[in-house]
Amino acid sequence: MDDDCTLPVLNTGLRGVDVASSKICDVNGKEGKLIYRGFLIQDLAEKAGFEEICFLLLYERLPKKEELDRFDQSLRQKREVPENVFTFLKALPADMNPMDVLQMAVPMLIQKDENVGTPGIENTLFSAENLIAGMATITAAWERIRNNKEPVAPDPSLNHAANFLYMLKGEKPDDESAHFFDTALVLHAEHSFNASTFTARQVASTRAHIYAAVSAAIGSLSGALHGGANVRVMEMLKEIGSVDKIDTYIKTLLDSGGLIMGLGHAVYQTDDPRALILEPMSKRMGEISGDSLWYELSRSLEIKGKAAFKAKKGREIFCNVDFYSASLFYAMGIKTDLFSPLFAISRISGWAAHVIEEQFAMAAPKPSLYRPGAEYVGDYCGPDECSYVDIDER
Ligand SMILES: CC(C)(COP(=O)(O)OP(=O)(O)OC[C@H]1O[C@@H](n2cnc3c(N)ncnc32)[C@H](O)[C@@H]1OP(=O)(O)O)[C@@H](O)C(=O)NCCC(=O)NCCS
Repeated sequence: MDDDCTLPVLNTGLRGVDVASSKICDVNGKEGKLIYRGFLIQDLAEKAGFEEICFLLLYERLPKKEELDRFDQSLRQKREVPENVFTFLKALPADMNPMDVLQMAVPMLIQKDENVGTPGIENTLFSAENLIAGMATITAAWERIRNNKEPVAPDPSLNHAANFLYMLKGEKPDDESAHFFDTALVLHAEHSFNASTFTARQVASTRAHIYAAVSAAIGSLSGALHGGANVRVMEMLKEIGSVDKIDTYIKTLLDSGGLIMGLGHAVYQTDDPRALILEPMSKRMGEISGDSLWYELSRSLEIKGKAAFKAKKGREIFCNVDFYSASLFYAMGIKTDLFSPLFAISRISGWAAHVIEEQFAMAAPKPSLYRPGAEYVGDYCGPDECSYVDIDER
């Protein structure tokens, strides 16, 4: 490159690069703070339900009581999905991964959205509600259908969290389980520019509609390095099996350079605030379910894993959100391959807020099509481009 030109900077994986301004979420890794629209996650988890969080993320403020009631009613009315979604799900092989199924089925919700693709924030807000309500129905329906059961129709008397558990299991959850699930949805709703959110924003920046952005985001979340970590936490707990095997397990794992799943985070340098909220929930859920093994294993693994890591690496490591969500969801009787879809049915609220910000926010810098560069490290033939050789002469 010409010496006079400014050299592009190669930032592999965009670590440490701010690619947009956002008013939605702040993650302060040093202090262990997670903030949605200015509010600490601890306060929101204690005082607000998932519907209120959706309103906060989408409308940039807390709702008044009547506004929340209207919003909640509107979500309840959008829970039913077109019948052909079930026909489609029934045609799929039962062993299909629920994240792949969700990603495929999400664009079918467009059938209930006559203004899709018509520019306007009101239209996108309608689509966001359609997605928040509909994705929960699809996820629960797939669990039923793959087990040769009929989908359960939504119950309009239940809130979003309780209704999801009802549609999943076919029986109404007890109040405490429903409350814990609601809090889990609140905790997973938003986390700034992680991989799937960036995916949603990148697709939205092309001015594609929100269903395309969300479908792509689900694909991103399905990766083992993103939404799949609590699945691997659960696999690890099952592999350990009993508390007396933890010391040997940790030693073998760390000596071979393995990772204790659910520990460590790219941003938090202290305990993830969500993990601190999930830990007592996991404990209580173990008591309710009558099987505390998974909580006890997690707790012991946390204490011993942190100590072993410090002894080996000379620095501390902390729990992330996936550490206790695994044992919490498992104690709720939720299958491990549904953990990532549960993440998605919560994170849809954050993705939708980001799509809206990407397409409609007036804040500088003005949203524009993401188009990063790449350093070309492929071939040239000497100083010039290669000459094309006809196929018969190669
Ligand atoms: C999340 C994660 C990628 C963050 O990584 P990071 O803070 O950037 O830390 P690094 O990957 O730079 O690792 C630093 C060192 O700590 C080690 N380390 C990090 N997390 C570890 C863990 N959970 N168990 C054991 N060792 C770990 C790394 O192997 C590395 O060792 P090295 O210096 O000898 O190479 C990493 O902690 C991890 O893979 N955790 C387990 C998976 C998980 O729970 N993911 C969900 C994240 S929400």
